[in-house]
Amino acid sequence: MSLFAIGDLHLHFQSVLKAHGQLHAPVWQNHEEILRKNCEALIRPTDTLVLVGDHSWGKNLEECERDLAYICALPGRKILLRGNHDMFWDAKKTDALNRLFEGKLFFLQNAYAPYQDYAIVGTKGYTFEGPFFLRGKKIVGWDKEAEAHAEKLIERELERLKISFEAARADGFSRFIMFLHYPPTSILESNSAFTAMAEAYGAEQVIYAHCHGESRFHDSIEGRHHGITYRLVSGDYLRWMPARIL
Ligand SMILES: [Fe+2]
Ligand SMILES: [Fe+2]
Repeated sequence: MSLFAIGDLHLHFQSVLKAHGQLHAPVWQNHEEILRKNCEALIRPTDTLVLVGDHSWGKNLEECERDLAYICALPGRKILLRGNHDMFWDAKKTDALNRLFEGKLFFLQNAYAPYQDYAIVGTKGYTFEGPFFLRGKKIVGWDKEAEAHAEKLIERELERLKISFEAARADGFSRFIMFLHYPPTSILESNSAFTAMAEAYGAEQVIYAHCHGESRFHDSIEGRHHGITYRLVSGDYLRWMPARIL
């Protein structure tokens, strides 16, 4: 039994492709087929695959039907996190989504998923991504209004993450693998409220996505940091080969 993760599939079987890079970059050519073949070679029915957000470009559930059917058909148990582009998934209506896909997909929000003696916890997260004002390559300022807005979103996501950890703890779990769609730190930070929460609950690993395109791969923490392993699992970074987490 193994635990795998990958994020940012950005499927668009029915919807309009919104990212220029996805149209032209070689790594995105036929990526659905490459990922499907990699999953079929790697993942057994008893394994678990966590999909770390940005599943589909569809604006609503109707436009995501074929994208979600593709995910359903991948091998193993599938757990999904919300990404910033997942417009089909209203956080407040997660229960309805879980009822709709019962036995096929688990949409993780304000909850946890057991994996052996671990609890898989997580939320979308958030990081401040600017706009920054640059002098050469040096950041000399940023948009204060955007920063204040980011702080509100971070607070809300921290609350959701805490609910996820506490739900697992209440059921007796003490070992955690923490998932975020956004990276745990912005490019300005080496620690954040998310890394602090991971440390406070003793998460063993923090797995995140969202950073795709080569220029973004090293925006946040990778490797060991204060006793926790941090890993980026965006699909293009992994070249569509899911990462083995446990
Ligand atoms: Fe993405
Ligand atoms: Fe994203």
